[in-house]
Amino acid sequence: MCGIVGVLGDHEAAPIIVDALKRLEYRGYDSAGIATVHKGVLESRRAVGKLVNLSDRLVHEPLRGKAGIGHTRWATHGAPNEANAHPQSAGTVAVVHNGIIENYHALREELTAKGAKFLSETDTETVAQLCRYYLDEGASPQEAVEKTLQRLEGAYALCFLFETDDNLLIAARKGSPLAIGHGKGEMFVGSDAIALAPMTSKITYLEEGDWAVITRTSVEIRDVNGKLANRQMRNIQLSAMAADKGMYKHFMAKEIAEQPTVLAENIGHYISDDHTRIDLRTDEIDFSKVTNITMVACGTAYLACMVAKYWFEKIARIPVEVDVASEFRYREPPLNPNSLAIFVSQSGETADTLAALRYCVEQNIKTVGVVNVAESSIAREASVVLPIYAGVEIGVASTKAFSCQLATLAAMVLYASQQTGQTGGHDLAELVSAYHALPGIVSQALQIEQEVRAISTELATATDALFLGRGDMYPVALEGALKLKEISYIHAEGYASGELKHGPIALVDKDMPVVVLAPKDALFDKTVSNMQEVMARQGKVLLITDKDGLKTAGHGVWRSVVMPRVHPVFAPVVYAIPVQLLAYYAAVSKGTDVDQPRNLAKSVTVE
Ligand code: AGP
Repeated sequence: MCGIVGVLGDHEAAPIIVDALKRLEYRGYDSAGIATVHKGVLESRRAVGKLVNLSDRLVHEPLRGKAGIGHTRWATHGAPNEANAHPQSAGTVAVVHNGIIENYHALREELTAKGAKFLSETDTETVAQLCRYYLDEGASPQEAVEKTLQRLEGAYALCFLFETDDNLLIAARKGSPLAIGHGKGEMFVGSDAIALAPMTSKITYLEEGDWAVITRTSVEIRDVNGKLANRQMRNIQLSAMAADKGMYKHFMAKEIAEQPTVLAENIGHYISDDHTRIDLRTDEIDFSKVTNITMVACGTAYLACMVAKYWFEKIARIPVEVDVASEFRYREPPLNPNSLAIFVSQSGETADTLAALRYCVEQNIKTVGVVNVAESSIAREASVVLPIYAGVEIGVASTKAFSCQLATLAAMVLYASQQTGQTGGHDLAELVSAYHALPGIVSQALQIEQEVRAISTELATATDALFLGRGDMYPVALEGALKLKEISYIHAEGYASGELKHGPIALVDKDMPVVVLAPKDALFDKTVSNMQEVMARQGKVLLITDKDGLKTAGHGVWRSVVMPRVHPVFAPVVYAIPVQLLAYYAAVSKGTDVDQPRNLAKSVTVE
């Protein structure tokens, strides 16, 4: 996902923009650039690779000017090279863009026929050339942008800079988030509040279809129909610590370690003061009227939904369907009017999840957004929002957000049982108490860190790995495989352990690490028999279990990790820890870019 910054300041813009872009690095990128206007001249500097390359460029070829725009590009159209880096400019206008212009081919042909010379492969250059066309026809910058926006199809967050006016930025948002930061005699534009935190905490989020004409002392926002719109200015207090690694080598390490704290924050919000009942802090959800649940998400958030399916069905006795958003949105399933649709998303901006939400809203289904970013698109468009209180998550690999998503979904399940009386034979008070105890158990689980680190160093030499689990450990197996893949680049697959004999066991040999997630629960014996089938074929089994489990089945395994005892219902929250640490230390051992793994973005705001 690309990062956008705009500055109308009273200091040199370039260093402010570079610093803001650094705070957007977590989004993932492969090139970066800046443009400024100084004494009536629009100039840009761009560089492939990390921001340090752009900074080096600016040392040797400094950019002056107090008005500027900057960009970190995650390539969608065109290779990650300097010509395709943003800002993209044409004549006297430069533009930075996050999103995809879906009709850019047709526009490019139309403009080429009118004499435009394209220098890049990007869809974004089409925006610059179209704006230039209208400027050349005598339109003012505002008129030119308005006409340009009317021609664009697809998703965009845009910020325009004009050579003719160093007291003007024009920003627009359709499908990708964009914020305006209010300074003292200065104005800023950014993809999120994190980018703008050092400059201001006074933030106005543009709504869908909005565009804004910005000077150092004014912001004029118009809605999709061109009508003046009032958008709330919020005070977003982002602690400086939030986007700072502190004593940790990586944000991911910090965020893994933060889980007991943020889980306590999350659970503290959703449990009654006497710790005996769940209170979702909304009366918008009545599970006694819910016939079935649809859950939609992507990636790790989707795996949290898979865990919650077991919980909703086993405890609250409500049928659940879980789907990845990119499939759901095109499957266009018929939905029962009394169903509840739950969308889980750390960023609240994942394009497919947002599109799936909009499909359900069109079907008049009650929608719940379980998100970490309270002012995100999904938060704004869902009927009900349940924040996960994980705090800012910078590492591309989602860790504390996953455990907080699970905790929030667990609160929904227990709340459903409270409302309907359905508990699947479980003792609700016991479950609420076990839920409340989770932060402490997760804190104990983190004690395995050094043990896992040693194992990861060996795991890092593997080219492939299997993760096995049964029941609600199956989604945790999938999550372990996803974590290992996405940050260490080791190929890994998660499997329901009962599926082993239906194919994957053919992969097993003496070099194949097989991670078995098996707390001593009702399914333990079944999982252990699958594990023994692996060991009988010289498979290298890493058994992640508890003390009783190790005593029962630990003999002969390659390695083992002993977890603290946890109520079987909530084991997924605790068993997420070892798979996060396994992936983290395997990546550290391999020297990959842990916080910004290759090809990945923190939030996938394009399809
Ligand atoms: C998880 O580690 C990945 N970063 C990715 O799968 C992520 O969970 C997915 O893109 C969904 O993001 P969201 O929660 O912001 O919607």
